[in-house]
Amino acid sequence: MASDNEHAGCNGSDVVKRNILFIAAAALTLLCIVLAFSNAVWLLGCIISVPFLIMGFYDYNQQQLTLTRNFPIAARIRWLFYDLRPYLRSYIVEGDLEGKPFSLDARNLVHARAQGKRDTHPFGTERDTDSGEYEWMSHSIVPAAHPEEDPRITVGGEQCSQPYNASVLNISAMSFGALSANAIAALNKGAQLGNFYHDTGEGGISSYHLEHGGDLVWEIGSGYFGCRDGNGHFDAGLFQEQASSDAVKMTEIKLSQGAKPGHGGLLPGAKVTEEIAAVRKIPVHQDCLSPRAHSAFSTPIELLEFAARMRELSCGKPVGIKLCVGHIHEVLAIMKAMLKTGIYLDYIVVDGAEGGTGAAPLELSDFVGMPLTEGLITVRNALVGTGLRDKVKLAASGKVYSGAGLARNLAIGADWCNAARAFMFSIGCIQAQRCHTGTCPTGITTQDPGRQRGLVVDVQAERAARFHQKTLLALSDIVAAAGLTHPCDLQPHHLVHRIGATDSKMIDRIYRFLPENSLIEAPDDTHYSQWWHAASAESFKAQVDMVPLRAKSNHGEQPKGSL
Ligand SMILES: Cc1cc2nc3c(=O)[nH]c(=O)nc-3n(C[C@H](O)[C@H](O)[C@H](O)COP(=O)(O)O)c2cc1C
Ligand code: SF4
Repeated sequence: MASDNEHAGCNGSDVVKRNILFIAAAALTLLCIVLAFSNAVWLLGCIISVPFLIMGFYDYNQQQLTLTRNFPIAARIRWLFYDLRPYLRSYIVEGDLEGKPFSLDARNLVHARAQGKRDTHPFGTERDTDSGEYEWMSHSIVPAAHPEEDPRITVGGEQCSQPYNASVLNISAMSFGALSANAIAALNKGAQLGNFYHDTGEGGISSYHLEHGGDLVWEIGSGYFGCRDGNGHFDAGLFQEQASSDAVKMTEIKLSQGAKPGHGGLLPGAKVTEEIAAVRKIPVHQDCLSPRAHSAFSTPIELLEFAARMRELSCGKPVGIKLCVGHIHEVLAIMKAMLKTGIYLDYIVVDGAEGGTGAAPLELSDFVGMPLTEGLITVRNALVGTGLRDKVKLAASGKVYSGAGLARNLAIGADWCNAARAFMFSIGCIQAQRCHTGTCPTGITTQDPGRQRGLVVDVQAERAARFHQKTLLALSDIVAAAGLTHPCDLQPHHLVHRIGATDSKMIDRIYRFLPENSLIEAPDDTHYSQWWHAASAESFKAQVDMVPLRAKSNHGEQPKGSL
């Protein structure tokens, strides 16, 4: 019968097995010392064995790591492979269509386009056209001969005195601080070369945003960086100073971001360098908090009044909001507020839950927020259903990196798309996913000047511009194949999705697309009925108790087709 000690794992052979490398290092050291009495050359062996002996002694006695304490030296081999895992997977194991968040194919496509290398694909698709994920664009027997190669969209309605003519692909918001000075400068120069816009992100406007003259969209988050007073509140004077400059073409209120909806942020004092402090208008070397919510408004009407004020302070430039869709009644509340006040947003950017970030809590990235397809359709329906679609432009962001991604979002309802990580790939990002550590190997998301040295602004700027141009050419190929000339002619019924092995449907037969004015004329006939009744221009809070309402509709007593 086994003794208690054996049950507890204390038998001698187990101890030897677990400590075998430690024992081997000790034995080798001893052997070398003994043999050194006959020939001193044997002492050289100690050069190898003694470091292992010290390591084993340290591992055996340290108290922080259980595995290492139980398996001195041996446990470190595991950590070594653990560290190597991403590289082995990425360089050796990963298939072309695998890899997260972006597949190898996706990354290679952007790199090839950015570097002006061959971006065509031989021998046919590698996608499984029978899989439930397969989606395709329907084409015409008579393709268009001359599709628009640089399609533009005018943003800014009657309430703007300086509308902006935007490209259908632009650089999504990424702050100076999250990105390095060289990355910001390269992206901005790329935007200038390619005639598209560069969103500043919420970290303010730095000199790197300005030195190359690319069009800027100035994003204002809850920290009001670059336009805040000593208490962290919005400062109209500071906003006006920069928003009225020629470089800024539009301004944007950031409500939320797909990768971390409802999350503020803390920039630790150590990262608040003099340069970042000056750009953000915050005290140097002190922790800097971005609150979860804005202090300049708390209701839908106040949001619009704030937007109107920003428009006025920026001398009539378009003002938009950026959000990841959450509660549907809150989106409808903004529509009701626009109808009630007559103040219109110039544009809305919908960010999908699949969107990127410099750093975010995993739970928020993985679990909170609506993915782009559903979010975009929700906002598109809210605008069309309230008759506001002509006044408010709609943009989309979330893993757009190709002409196909652009075409898909434009068909569903977007006027243009923004891309963040694809533009990072274009200037050299290899998806090492160390953005939050300050050790980015390509100099994009680090403030370390030594690492930024690798990113040569002029070279990478041309790559960003080339990626943009080639992606738009790919889009024009798709538009032409569909027999159309402008991507805004793409419609939901051009997009087909496979549903299982034997069926496929047009996207407008999978998702419900509301007809014009339906939320005004007969909201109860729409699948948004409950959300419409819950929405108010005066408050973001639901105006009805959703639980009994939804319980009733479950029993067929309430509006048809509720979400
Ligand atoms: C490094 C990094 C920094 C970002 N910083 C901001 C930011 O300051 N403000 C913001 O609204 N979104 C920010 N985002 C989100 C992007 O603007 C974009 O909405 C999201 O990444 C989806 O686009 P993608 O899938 O093309 O990356 C950031 C994303 C990344 C990768
Ligand atoms: S190379 Fe890696 S660390 Fe640098 S930006 Fe790309 S994903 Fe982030």
